[in-house]
Amino acid sequence: MTTVAKKLLINARLVNEGEVKEADVLIEGERIERVESGLAASLASEVIDLEGRYLFPGLIDDQVHFREPGLTHKGSLATESRAAICGGVTSVLEMPNTSPPTTDKAALQEKWERAEGRSFANYAFYLGATNDNLEEIRRIAPGEACGIKVFMGASTGNMLVDDPQVLERIFAESPLPIATHCEDSPTIWANEAAFRERFGEDVPMEAHPQIRSAEACYRSSSLAVDLAKRHGARLHVLHLSTSRELELFEPGPIDGKAITAEVCVHHLWFDESRYPDLGSRIKCNPAIKTSADREGLMRAVCDDRIDVIATDHAPHTLEEKAQTYFKAPAGLPLVQHSLQILLEFHHQGRLSLETIAQKGAHNPAVLFRIAERGFIREGYFADLVAVDLNKPQRITPESLVYKCGWSPFEGERFSSSIHMTILNGEVVFREGVITDTPGGRRLSFQEG
Ligand code: DOR
Repeated sequence: MTTVAKKLLINARLVNEGEVKEADVLIEGERIERVESGLAASLASEVIDLEGRYLFPGLIDDQVHFREPGLTHKGSLATESRAAICGGVTSVLEMPNTSPPTTDKAALQEKWERAEGRSFANYAFYLGATNDNLEEIRRIAPGEACGIKVFMGASTGNMLVDDPQVLERIFAESPLPIATHCEDSPTIWANEAAFRERFGEDVPMEAHPQIRSAEACYRSSSLAVDLAKRHGARLHVLHLSTSRELELFEPGPIDGKAITAEVCVHHLWFDESRYPDLGSRIKCNPAIKTSADREGLMRAVCDDRIDVIATDHAPHTLEEKAQTYFKAPAGLPLVQHSLQILLEFHHQGRLSLETIAQKGAHNPAVLFRIAERGFIREGYFADLVAVDLNKPQRITPESLVYKCGWSPFEGERFSSSIHMTILNGEVVFREGVITDTPGGRRLSFQEG
C-alpha cells in the first residue's frame, strides 16, 4: 500500500479570509487536508514548526512579463518563476507581449508547452488582442487562457489596439475577462513630440510622467470603463497610476463586481521624486507619478476601490536601461519583492495583513475564477508562504534571482523576510535555499 506523505505545519498564524488566527495546517500530498488548532504530530510524517510566523496563501500575481519566447536575454519562464517563489508568489498570469506575441491559439499552446516542467510557479497565460484577431478572441474557451490582454495604449511590444470598432467588438464578445493597459497613445505621441522639440534626444527621465501623463491615463481608462458598461463586459483595468482614475471605480467587495482595478507595488512605493536618483530604473508604463497619486492609490486599496495588487514584473537588461530616454525600455523587475514591499506598508501602519492576503491572493483567484487556490482552505492546493515580520533583509545584488540581475530596490532594507514558500504541498523555498525542481502547474479555472 502506498501512503501519501503528510506535512503538519504547527505554530502558524494564518492570515486568511479577513482574520489572523492561530491554527495548524495538515497537508496531504499537494492539498490542504485540515486547518485546525492542536492537530497531533502523529498525523504527519513531517512536522514543520513555524514558530509563530505568519502564514499567507501564496500570492497570485495577475500581471507578469516573463519574456518567453523571443526575449529570453531579459528573462525566461524558468528564471523569473524561480524569482517568484523566492518572494512567496506561487501563481502567475503571464502577458502576451513576447516575440512572437501570444495572439492566437498556436502561440498560446507553445507557451503552455514551454512552461510545463520548467516553471517554478503555477502559471496561466493571457491571449493578446490586436486590431485583427477578433476571431481568435471569440473562439477562446475558459482554461485556454486566463484573460484577454488589450493594450489600449502602446507599450513594450507594439500591441496597440486602437481601432474603435474592434474595441467595441472585443468588449461585446470576449468570453474571458478583459485586462487593459490604459494610456491614450495620441496624447502620449503629442507630448513626446513637444519634448523632442525642446530637448532633442536628451529628454530627461523626469519628463516621463509628463509624457505618459495623467491625462493620457484618464482618457484611456475612462474609455475602457465606458465600453465595459455599455457592453456589460468583465473588465479589469491594470496598473492604475493616478488619483483621478479612481473616480471611475466603485468601492466594495469583489464579489459581483463587473469592473475591477489593479495597482502595482511600484506605483504604491515610488513617486516622481525618485527619478533623479533611479532614472530609467523606474521608467515604466504607466509612469510613476506624484506623491499625491501614490497616496490616492493607497487610499483606494484600503477603501476597496482597488481590488488587486500585482507587480507588472517586466525585466530588461541594465544595458538596455542605460540608453537615452526614448530608447530605454519601460519596465522593472519586481516579482521577488512584492510581498516584502506590502509587509513594509504593514510596518508603516498603512496596510493590514488581512488586506495583503485579500488583494494579493484571494481577489485575483476570485476575479479570474482560478480553481482551488488563493485561500487557505481544506481541499485547496497547499500554496502557502510563511513570513518573518521582524527579520530585516537588505537587498543586495547577490540576493537577486532575476536573470537581468538588478532591482530598483538594491540597497533597500526591508523589515520582513520570506521564510518559506510551499507550492502544491512541497517546500520550494526555505531561508534562502531554492528547490532545483520546477514544480509549477498549469492553473485550472472554474467553469460557468
Ligand atoms: O513598463 C512596462 N513594461 N509596461 C508595460 O506595459 C509593458 C512592460 C514590458 O513588457 O516591458
